[in-house]
Amino acid sequence: MAAKIISGTEIAKQIREEIKEEVKSLKEKHNLTPGLVTILIGDNPASVSYVTGKQKTAKELGFYSVQDNQPADITEDQLLALIDKYNKDPLIHGILVQLPLPKHINENKVLYAINPDKDVDAFHPVNVGKLMIGEANYYPCTPFGIQQMLIRSGVQTDGAEVVVVGRSNIVGKPIAMMMAQKAKGANATVTICHTGTKNLAEHTRRADILIVAAGRPKAVTADMVKEGAVVIDVGVNRIGMTPEGKAILCGDVDFEAVKEKASMITPVPGGVGPMTITMLMLNTVKAAKVAHGLA
Ligand code: GUN
Repeated sequence: MAAKIISGTEIAKQIREEIKEEVKSLKEKHNLTPGLVTILIGDNPASVSYVTGKQKTAKELGFYSVQDNQPADITEDQLLALIDKYNKDPLIHGILVQLPLPKHINENKVLYAINPDKDVDAFHPVNVGKLMIGEANYYPCTPFGIQQMLIRSGVQTDGAEVVVVGRSNIVGKPIAMMMAQKAKGANATVTICHTGTKNLAEHTRRADILIVAAGRPKAVTADMVKEGAVVIDVGVNRIGMTPEGKAILCGDVDFEAVKEKASMITPVPGGVGPMTITMLMLNTVKAAKVAHGLA
């Protein structure tokens, strides 16, 4: 039987309606408008597209939003000064520096410079550490989105075998940690697979919930998936261009074949992607509340 398609687009829409209501109420009751700055260095097409999506959503939800574009040759010191400016700006509650950064800039130094209270990506070591000990203020957006999709699709995570493919700091490591916590939408037994894993298929075939963030098109094929598994595809691979100049995307999972075996599966596009942006908005609302003693 073909899998139920988990629509990130639909779930994200629901959550955005909830956020809109909250933004309205924050304005009415506290005269508070959540403020988000997205800093883009250079003109990498994927980064431009992500930042544009984030800004568009922030505006739709009634945020104060600033897009700060800087040239690829900005110095590290100039970028650190810019972050300091936004750290001190009372109208800005969330600061996002789009990654990757040009090679001459030390990414960690930049991420460490963001005030942890304004770190809506949850990449600062303080927030990474808080996640580890179950004290998170912010969850990184993509893992947060994945967990919300599971919860809102009624997927049983308690005691489930979760297998994560990929160990990035942005997705693999944090989602593994979150799914292992004793918490709602978690409490799972977690395995992390990566490029050093000896027999990948042996692990993925055990998964009740398979989360794939490998960064490789069709890294997971049907023979690697257990009958009835829930499959979350985090991959965003740009495999070509339409005549109109729009990127053609595919995930890390062989969707057409795997959907015949899984019980639920996320598509690409329209799966994890819209959730990631929405969770950034949720984190920004939280940051605004933190700044005003309302969280
Ligand atoms: N580049 C790819 N994903 C992300 C993300 O979630 N946040 C930021 N800041 N940069 C990214």
